[in-house]
Amino acid sequence: MNDKITEHGAESCCITDAKFHSCEIKGEFSENNMSGCRFERCNLSGSALAESDMTGAVLDKVNLTGAEFTGCDLSGVNISDCKLEGAEIDGISIKELIEFYKNNHKENKAMKKNVRKAIIAGNWKMNKTRPEAKALLEELKPMVADVNDVEIVACVPFTNLETALNVTAGTNIKIGAENCHFEKSGAFTGEISADMLAEMGVEYVVLGHSERRQYFAETDETVNKRTKAALAAGLKPIVCVGELLWERECNITEEVIARQIKLDFYDISADDLKKCVIAYEPVWAIGTGKTATADQAEEVCAFIRATLAKLYGEEVAESITIQYGGSMNAGNAAELVSKTNVDGGLIGGASLKAADFTTIIMAAHNG
Ligand code: PGA
Repeated sequence: MNDKITEHGAESCCITDAKFHSCEIKGEFSENNMSGCRFERCNLSGSALAESDMTGAVLDKVNLTGAEFTGCDLSGVNISDCKLEGAEIDGISIKELIEFYKNNHKENKAMKKNVRKAIIAGNWKMNKTRPEAKALLEELKPMVADVNDVEIVACVPFTNLETALNVTAGTNIKIGAENCHFEKSGAFTGEISADMLAEMGVEYVVLGHSERRQYFAETDETVNKRTKAALAAGLKPIVCVGELLWERECNITEEVIARQIKLDFYDISADDLKKCVIAYEPVWAIGTGKTATADQAEEVCAFIRATLAKLYGEEVAESITIQYGGSMNAGNAAELVSKTNVDGGLIGGASLKAADFTTIIMAAHNG
C-alpha cells in the first residue's frame, strides 16, 4: 500500500501481515490486529494506537513523532531508524526505553567478559636455551604467584618443554608448545605429535601461527587437522588467525578472518570449540612494533565472536577466550585487554622479559 490510508483511524480491523510504504496513517486506531505488518517510510506522527495486536510488526524509517501506543501487544516489534521524539508506549518514552535497553545490553556484554577467564600466553618462538628458559621462568614465578584470575601460559620450544614443566610444577604457570603434527605417529621426520606433548603434561599448543603459515606452508586445512589432533589428545589449542597488511588495505579483513574461522574450525563440535582459544594476530603487527589500536583489535575480536555466534550460537561464542597478539607490550596491554571482546594476549617479544610479561599479566589481572 502506498497512499494516504486514513485520517480518522480504524477500529477492530484485521490487517495482519500488510505492507505499508510511504503512507500517511493518522488518527486513532483501537483493537486492531496488525500483527506482522510492515511499515516503511510511513508517517504515523501524532497517531494513537490502543489495545491492538502488533506482534512481530516492523517499523522502518517511520515518523512516530508524538505517537502513543497504549495497551498494545508489541512483542517482537522491530523499530529501526524511526523518528521517536515524544513517542510513548503506555506513557513511557520510547527513546528512554531504547536507551535503557542499550545500556543494559552493554552491561551484559561486560559481565560476559568477566565470565571468560583472561589468558595471557607467551610465545617464545625460537628463543632460549634450557638454562635460559629455566632462569626466565624462575624469575617469573614469584612475580605472578598471587595472580589467580588470569591463566598464565608459557609456550616454549620443544627442547624447553621438560625444563619448563619441571620449573613450573605446582605453580600457576601453564606450559604450552608452539606447534604439533596432525598424525598420531609415523614417518614424519622432525615432527612432534599431540600425544607426545600431552604425555609430558603440556596443556596448550599454539596452532596456525602466521610464521608457520608464512614460512612452513601451513594452510587452513592443516591448521584444522592439527586442531582436531590436539583436541583428541586433550590439549587446548590456541588457534591463530589474522590478516596480512595488504588484505587490510584492500578492506577484506572480515572476509579473511571469517574464512579462517570457518576452515580452521571446520567439523569441530561446540564442546570441542569451548576447549580452544582464538588468538587474533594481525600479521602486520607481529614483531613489527606496530600494534593494532585497541579499537581495531576490539573490532576484529568482536567480529570473530559474531562469526562464532553464527556458527555455534551466541552462548558458545560468548564463552570463548579471544586473545589479541601483535606487538602487545607492557605499555599498551592495559588498553587492549580493557576491551570487551579482547580476553587476553598472545605475546612474543615482550614475553621474553619477566618484568614486561608480568606487567601484561597484571594489566589483565587489574582490568
Ligand atoms: P610479538 O609476537 O608480540 O613479538 O609481536 C606475537 C606473536 O607472534 O604471537
